Order: sequence, then structure tokens, then C-alpha cells
Amino acid sequence: MFDGLGDAVTVYEVSPRDGLQNESAIVSTAEKVELVQALRAAGLRRIEATSFVSPKWIPQLADAEALLLALAADDLARDGEYSALCPNSRGLQRARDTGVAEIVVFVSASAEHNQKNLNSSIDDSLARLREVVQEARQTGLRVRGCVSTAWGFRSEQDVDLRESARIGRALMDMGCTELSLGDTTGVATPRKTHDVLSCFLAEHPAVTLSMHMHDTRGTALANVLVGLELGLRSFDAAIGGLGGCPYAPGAAGNLATEDLVYMLHGMGIPSGIDLDKLIEAGKVAARLVGHPLPGKVHRASLGTPRTAHSTAQPVR
Ligand code: HMG
Ligand code: MG
Repeated sequence: MFDGLGDAVTVYEVSPRDGLQNESAIVSTAEKVELVQALRAAGLRRIEATSFVSPKWIPQLADAEALLLALAADDLARDGEYSALCPNSRGLQRARDTGVAEIVVFVSASAEHNQKNLNSSIDDSLARLREVVQEARQTGLRVRGCVSTAWGFRSEQDVDLRESARIGRALMDMGCTELSLGDTTGVATPRKTHDVLSCFLAEHPAVTLSMHMHDTRGTALANVLVGLELGLRSFDAAIGGLGGCPYAPGAAGNLATEDLVYMLHGMGIPSGIDLDKLIEAGKVAARLVGHPLPGKVHRASLGTPRTAHSTAQPVR
């Protein structure tokens, strides 16, 4: 069982963006740098640092330019690969002034969620993003495309898989180089995950696809296991299980990075991450946001000796 899953996995960390956008308290720029330093120290390389969205919509990330410039100037953080969400040409303009290497464009497969999140229809969003992506690519930026609510919005039944696939196709056609499939509200279960991933894999190679699971109902790791078995090697996660979309009511945190890495290493799958240092990064995150975090390994670490979390898996 689980033979042939040994290839390394890339963990794409979203806590500075997806995590902090959902906090009621504003974390300062200097504190965000401290969080990123802790994530980098644990071996995380690809980090979604912030968003160039409207500060009226997401005030928590209004310091996007200042944060990226601070990261570029910081000895402990400057060699990370940072990306930032970008909803329109204004966002791209802001991103270009910071030297960020990658932007992330996002469209929801649920018309209702897209309207709440981007204040526009799906097709208007796609039309707007086509120009943004083309301009970004012309100036040498990488572009990640995210299909939000790819499994469903209020339930697994309310989004047609063909609509998720259509949006994924449109994002790739306009020039995105990889796709992140978002279970924004954590409705996914393994059978539907098999259907969603099989549908996308029929058109796109596994290396192009990433899973972005929210753990609202505790099914995120079960879904990741399906992805691993189907050949996916990139997973989004947030330290301590931070995260959620303010425009998706009840959407709880992302899959916790520590939970993902604990499972990967236990299965002998390398990630390049030091789990003990990752657990320390989770404690930094909890201190900065000022409340306990929901991640399971994070919780267990608070009452367990440090060595209990080290697995046989070496860090590579
Ligand atoms: P709008 O109100 O329709 O846009 O918002 P607007 O063009 O009328 O602009 C309103 C104001 O915002 C104007 O300022 C603009 O200049 C300004 P004013 O004239 O009133 O002073 N503005 C901007 N400012 C800075 N940067 C910009 C920008 N754009 C406009 N880029 C808009 C449309 C797209 C801007 C808005 O809906 C928005 O920002 N939405 C983003 C919401 C968001 O960030 N949601 C969370 C991220 S998505 C997520 O979490 C899901 C994900 O994790 C995947 C998953 O879980 O599945 C990615
Ligand atoms: Mg998300």
C-alpha cells in the first residue's frame, strides 16, 4: 500500500496571506517578517506572502508593498520565493513595484462566491484577468492560477465540476503556469476529490496542479492522500491551520502545514522541511495572532516533548 509515493513534495505556504487575511487583529509588517523568517528557517521556500487586493476589502494586508520590500532586504528572508495575490491591473501595477517574482490570480467556480469575493461575475473576472496575466507574463512574472470553490461552495453538490474545469482551462489558456485547486470552504471528501483531480489530470500534468485544502470539516488530509496517490506533488498549507476567506462564511483554516508535513514524513515522503522548526514557527504564529491555533500537530506539540514529533524522515 502507498508504494511509489516517495518523490519529494513541495509545500506552498499560504499563512502570511490566507492566514492573516482572516484575522481580526492587524499583524504589523515587522511581525509578518518575523513569521516569514520562522517559516524560512523551517525550510519552507515557496511562500504566498501577501495580497495586492483592495485595502478596503482586506485591510489586514494593506502593507503588501512594505512587506515585500522588507523581505527583500532581510538577511533571513531574502532568498525565499514569494508570491502575492493579484485581482486586477491595479494589483499588478503595485506588485511590479516590489520585484515579487510570482503573482496569483483567482476565480471562483461558484458564481455566488466569485461575486462576493471579487465583486464581479465569473466571466467578467476571467476577461479582466486575461489582460493581467498576459501583461505579467510579458514582464517576466510567473503566474499561478487558483480555481476557488473547485469542489463546491456551500456543499460538495453546488458547483458543477465542468465549471471548475472550464475555469482551470481558461486560466491555463491565458498564460498561467500552474493551477491551485481550492476547496475554499472545506466541503471536499475523498470520492469527489478523486473525480475533481481525475478531471483536471485529464487535461493538465500532475506537476502543474496543487491542492489548496481548507480543513473546515476535518477532511483535508484524507483528500491530500487521494492527491498523492494520483501523482500530485504540490500542496498548499498554512502554519498552525491559520486561514480562511472573509467572503466565504464559515470557512475555517487551511490544512495545517505541520499536519501535512507530519503525515508526509511518516509516509517516507521528503518535503525539505524540518518538522521541529516548523512546530516552532507555529508557536511564533500563535503568539503573533494572539490566540491558540487549530492545527492538530501544533496542539499536540504544546503538551508533548519536542522529540515526540521528529520522524525517521531526514530533512533534504
Ligand atoms: P470593487 O470595490 O468592485 O473595485 O472591488 P473598484 O474598482 O470599484 O475599487 C474600489 C476601491 O478599491 C477603489 O478605491 C480602488 O482604487 C481600490 P477608491 O477609489 O474607492 O478609493 N482598488 C484597489 N486598491 C488597491 N489595490 C487594488 C485595488 N483594486 C481596487 N488591487 C476588487 C474589486 C477586486 C478590488 C475587490 O473585490 C477585492 O479586492 N477583492 C479581493 C478579496 C480577497 O482578497 N479575498 C480573499 C482572497 S481569495 C481566497 O482567500 C481564496 C483562496 O485562498 C483560494 C481558496 O481558498 O480556494 C485564494
Ligand atoms: Mg484559501
